[in-house]
Amino acid sequence: MSAVPTPVLPSSVGPIVSLQAHILQQQASFPEATGTLSWILSALSISAKIIASKVRRARLENVLGAAGAENVQGEQQQKLDVIANEVLLGTLGGREGVAIVASEENEEPVIIRDTASAERRYCVLFDPLDGSSNLDVCGGVGTIFSILRHDRRARDSHTSLLQPGAQQVAAGYVLYGSSTVFVLTVGHGVDMFVLDPSIGAFMLVERGLRTPPKHKSYSVNEGNRRTFPEGYQRYLDWAQENGYSSRYVGSMVADVHRILLKGGVFLYPPTQKAPKGKLRLMYEANPMAMIIEQAGGKALAGPGQRILDVQPTDIHQRVPVILGSADEVDHVVAKL
Ligand code: AHG
Ligand code: MN
Ligand code: MN
Repeated sequence: MSAVPTPVLPSSVGPIVSLQAHILQQQASFPEATGTLSWILSALSISAKIIASKVRRARLENVLGAAGAENVQGEQQQKLDVIANEVLLGTLGGREGVAIVASEENEEPVIIRDTASAERRYCVLFDPLDGSSNLDVCGGVGTIFSILRHDRRARDSHTSLLQPGAQQVAAGYVLYGSSTVFVLTVGHGVDMFVLDPSIGAFMLVERGLRTPPKHKSYSVNEGNRRTFPEGYQRYLDWAQENGYSSRYVGSMVADVHRILLKGGVFLYPPTQKAPKGKLRLMYEANPMAMIIEQAGGKALAGPGQRILDVQPTDIHQRVPVILGSADEVDHVVAKL
């Protein structure tokens, strides 16, 4: 009797993997995993779909423009900032594994569960809508998230959150651009998914993304140039003398996504207006730094100062940012 042939996929057919399947596959490779983190990632994926649909329908539903209030950072809140924040709080709040949620839009962290009895719980920090001033003009906006293990020994929720970015268990962002892209790391490289609107699922499009080590492009708000520390001005002179291009959307998710795929360097230096830098360590810099490092790039707050090693003292603190292709970050640091 002849042996039954082992079925194989024809060479033209690649495996089709959704974000959900990918998360479960990753979980299966860690026998000690309880599935808690997977549930949290699935809440983030649902939030991303809801926010993507709100962003797409914003003009039709008349939710563009300012909400009329300022957030804890003293910045104008857009209506969609508030909506995206509520979506994330609502989805994460329903997941058993979430102990504390902290958002750029809320002054205080939200305690979801009584943490004293928590066995294995997580803190989720996020910037619900990044680059929201681009909304009115149909520009790319995003959601950025960071997941830390809940520190049960901490005396209060603030203290549990004040962990350096190197302790992040997972981080990522969603870009609501010409397509909706979900970029994720759980500390083993960076994977990218695109929302297929016809089936409502994020599909894996690239595994183990690597940012190119060099690319002659910088991304910075050059309007602030005169108030940058001198070293940054020297770098910009050098870059311009050496044929670099300038690319700046003004939405960190969109700018960093371009750098992740094409290379280059993203800068938000200290300025007169924001002497410690504008970007927020816990909601923006740390998750982006983890993604970029996991893709082979570098992410610094200054010469010799890795963003992921900054010890936070306040959940809303700001930090200067230099991140992107390894060689391009080195060129900046050489001038500082
Ligand atoms: P947010 O919309 O969450 O407040 O973030 C805006 C941030 C970031 O996305 C972007 O890189 C930066 O602000 C742009 O700042 P400037 O307008 O000062 O260049
Ligand atoms: Mn932001
Ligand atoms: Mn924001």
